[in-house]
Amino acid sequence: MQTGVAAHHSSLGEKDNRALASIFAAYTVSATLWLLFATAVGLLLAYKFGAPDFGAGAWLTFGRLRPIHTNATFYGWASVALVGLAYYVAARSSRIALYSVKLAWIGLVLFNVAAVAGTVALDLGYNDGNLEYREWPWPIRLVFLAALVVTAWNLIATVARRSTDDIYLSNWYTIGGVLWTCIVALVAILPWYQYGLGQVSVSGYYMHNAVGMWFTPLALGIFYYALPRLLSRPIYSYALGVFAFWTNLVFYPIIGAHHFLFSPLPWWLQTTAIVFSVAMLVPVWGGSANFLLTMRGRVRDLTHSYPLMFILVGVIGYLVGSTQGTVEAFRSLQEVWHLTNFTVGHSHLTMYGFVTFAIWGGVYALLPLATGKEPGRLGLMLHFWMAVVGSFIYVISLSIGGTIQGLDWKNGLPFIQSVVDMQEYYVWRGVGGALMFLSHIVFAWNVWRMTYGRAARVAPIAALPAGEAAA
Ligand code: HEM
Ligand code: HEM
Repeated sequence: MQTGVAAHHSSLGEKDNRALASIFAAYTVSATLWLLFATAVGLLLAYKFGAPDFGAGAWLTFGRLRPIHTNATFYGWASVALVGLAYYVAARSSRIALYSVKLAWIGLVLFNVAAVAGTVALDLGYNDGNLEYREWPWPIRLVFLAALVVTAWNLIATVARRSTDDIYLSNWYTIGGVLWTCIVALVAILPWYQYGLGQVSVSGYYMHNAVGMWFTPLALGIFYYALPRLLSRPIYSYALGVFAFWTNLVFYPIIGAHHFLFSPLPWWLQTTAIVFSVAMLVPVWGGSANFLLTMRGRVRDLTHSYPLMFILVGVIGYLVGSTQGTVEAFRSLQEVWHLTNFTVGHSHLTMYGFVTFAIWGGVYALLPLATGKEPGRLGLMLHFWMAVVGSFIYVISLSIGGTIQGLDWKNGLPFIQSVVDMQEYYVWRGVGGALMFLSHIVFAWNVWRMTYGRAARVAPIAALPAGEAAA
């Protein structure tokens, strides 16, 4: 167990604290606006399954709105929120000021320029084709890459100047995630991989590494900082955390081909992807056990703290969603589930149930410490329960519906039969989605209270020794 980080006193002055708080707040506010926009579009998409003629103009077609929803949730919401959290965690756990406040602002501007330009381009019909999660025209993706490089530089320089002996585990995950994603984003742009089977292979590589080497390590890094902080106890096993980090790195990058089973990609490549999808159980179960064991015996704290409840749901989302992914990668089950709504359920179980809940847990745990302002209990309660119940309805309805859809296809029924069979599940998805969206409005209200609201009872930042969480 590392204790070095706790052995030093904070070297953050009042000015540094304020600058860090304003960066963290600005990233969170910006991300929240993207969450509202992206999920309003998601709700419209869900509505269109029942009313396909609604909004028939070119700008509102499903084909344009769908990538707007996915890219805005990925790069406007989750990426920006996670980077804001990563900055806060890097500075506090290293007990040092952020290397460059200016670079952090530049990064935020670049992230937003890319997301706005990408959204406008997609709605005007400029789309880089069938390359999922990288539909933005490539020059716009270069702006996103520039934002990543700026972020990597700033995080590394901050941690390199730490006043602690060790690099706290969270920073391994967040810095690893940003560096890997620079490579992934670069590979996705290289022109010689953009056609034929090379394109298929790189598409799988990009798609899965966007979720596995970007959102996953950043969200896990937040768990490793916020959990000990909320529980005032060290993480169960630092060594297990390091082990999960390295096994994640060894197994994840090779599993992209599981998106293209039964395709013309070499059979051995598909089989390798399946084998490594099974191997992913090692970091997933190792990491999840570490978080759950850190929470052991603290049921009372859990039921009294909404930040902890958000994190608990996030950990369960990570465990269940990723294990589901392993099962989904087997050929026998891909035969049923591939291209069905079951996969959309998996996407939301992971990107929502894991990543988005992790962000919320992190924001509620840490933003009040930074700004000295906190949300009300009613707001926390409404947000938590509407998001949990809504996403539960969303995921369960699509998992059942998607299975029926796949079996219809496998049994050779007319395609229209599978559409008819899905009808009621689409309606339930809409009900779940509406609850989720309402919860985002409450979240925005809570963010407002944590940033612009009146100062509350939270202990001021200077009084909280940085890096305490790591002890
Ligand atoms: C670590 C274990 C995981 C495995 C083995 C796994 C496996 C899979 C498989 C096999 C598919 C393809 C389904 C199909 O096309 O039929 C898939 C899709 C997907 N997974 Fe996972 N998954 C894992 C974890 C995650 C996590 C942690 C996330 C999010 C953070 C995630 C996000 C997604 C998304 C967004 C898709 C949809 C991709 C698309 O649009 O086609 N997965 N996963
Ligand atoms: C109110 C909340 C939300 C609603 C109503 C919603 C709705 C939708 C709809 C209708 C689709 C299209 C599915 C299809 O093509 O059949 C979709 C796709 C997707 N959404 Fe959402 N969404 C919401 C929140 C989110 C969030 C917060 C994230 C990520 C952080 C997200 C990530 C995705 C992904 C990755 C896909 C592609 C799924 C796939 O191809 O497997 N969504 N969403």
